[in-house]
Amino acid sequence: MTGVTALVSKVVESHHRDKDQLIQVLLDLQGRLGWLPQEALTEVGRQLRVPVTRIYQVASYYKAFSFAPKGRHTIKVCLGTACHVRGAARVLEKMETDLGIKRTETTPDLKYTLETVNCVGCCALGPMVMVDGQYHGQISSDKVSPLLEKYE
Ligand code: FES
Repeated sequence: MTGVTALVSKVVESHHRDKDQLIQVLLDLQGRLGWLPQEALTEVGRQLRVPVTRIYQVASYYKAFSFAPKGRHTIKVCLGTACHVRGAARVLEKMETDLGIKRTETTPDLKYTLETVNCVGCCALGPMVMVDGQYHGQISSDKVSPLLEKYE
């Protein structure tokens, strides 16, 4: 039994092998693995007797699920209206240049994942950037490199 198979067994068991608990099972797995590898989804399908296509259908509906590994640090650039008018697009462009990836991507060394959001509720402090849930306000493109250096 592989590590993933054993983990899926444990999680599925903790939800009483109930296929109505599919979303909870997927949330638990993602919480433990950081993302949902295909091997895990196939195993969930086998153990819960749910077609894998159905699992992808369900998981794809929720933004919370990821089908690719995430970086150790998740960077979210706010592109909401208030941040946008203050230059968020330039901040995002600089992030993409510094990290060498586009939004939604993860650096090859699995250090950073770059995402965008549409408002984090601190519009007056925009442009806003969140790193691992920590808020950074009034970020301009020239503050991007120093911000990233803090996570080196
Ligand atoms: S629009 Fe960026 S925090 Fe509201």
